[in-house]
Amino acid sequence: MNPLRTGGSVPGVVETDDLGTYVVKFTGSAQGRKALVAEIIVGELARRLGLRFPELVLVHFDPAVAADEPHQEVQDLLHASAGLNLGMDLLPGAVDFTPEALDVDPLEAGKVVWLDALTANVDRTVHSSNLMIWPASGFRPPRLWLIDHGAALVFHHRWGATAPDKAYDFRYHALGGYGPDTRAADAELAPLVTEEMLREVAGLVPEAWLADEPGFSSAGEVREAYVDFLLARARASAAWLPVDFPSRGELAAADARRAAATEKGRPAWLKRVPDLHGKPAAEQDWTRHIG
Ligand SMILES: Nc1ncnc2c1ncn2[C@@H]1O[C@H](COP(=O)(O)OP(=O)(O)OP(=O)(O)O)[C@@H](O)[C@H]1O
Ligand SMILES: [Mg+2]
Repeated sequence: MNPLRTGGSVPGVVETDDLGTYVVKFTGSAQGRKALVAEIIVGELARRLGLRFPELVLVHFDPAVAADEPHQEVQDLLHASAGLNLGMDLLPGAVDFTPEALDVDPLEAGKVVWLDALTANVDRTVHSSNLMIWPASGFRPPRLWLIDHGAALVFHHRWGATAPDKAYDFRYHALGGYGPDTRAADAELAPLVTEEMLREVAGLVPEAWLADEPGFSSAGEVREAYVDFLLARARASAAWLPVDFPSRGELAAADARRAAATEKGRPAWLKRVPDLHGKPAAEQDWTRHIG
């Protein structure tokens, strides 16, 4: 097993007894089991809406595998994750999507935005796309694949506090620059989100990951809450449908304005520290320190 240190939850690349290679997300991670529930529900929803999403499997993990792991924090994570965990088929040689890396047609971009707005996914931005390109080389054309829906379904962190027609902040969506045709996507996808389809998807979540949810008397009740919320939200798409995406130029100008405002309010000794605006530290522009 190889820990993937780029992932915030430290997923691991694991070879399983069926000889498959999977990116495994562990129940013992700081993100907790709700991230795994979101991963299943949103990923399987995406698949049923015709978007590309790698196969998911439930992986029984024996922490004895971790005996050779040199890092204490990874050891701890593995020991806290005995039993059932979530594996995603590894796309061999896939590369992380970055804006302009691939031609994405407006309908496909619209469908991805539509899915993210439906499921309140806050983690598909220009700073962290959670999209992969695969295959990245060879004869077959490169395609867009969706991964990492652990941060979606934000409503399940406070059941009842979010209205199903709540607006979605799409300004920094990773595909906003491709002219997403969200109206065409809505016309095509909304009718596919039926009660039956949502029941099927919610039914894929292991019982143990839904047990003991405060405010619910059974795992079955929690499943129904996912179905009810997503159905109501799909029916209310007119209220949250993202339209009028800012162009890349407009986004860059807004970023520059915010950076200038931040810098203006800083004392002189802080003026040379890069302003990240929520970007991950890996994207720091060190030339500002050197130059
Ligand atoms: N199925 C896959 N095939 C190939 N590479 C993958 C796959 N899933 C994830 N990766 C790689 O591992 C990285 C981390 O995965 P992922 O984003 O799912 O983890 P995470 O812990 O939720 O990450 P973060 O919190 O940083 O977003 C991805 O950015 C990607 O580079
Ligand atoms: Mg990620």
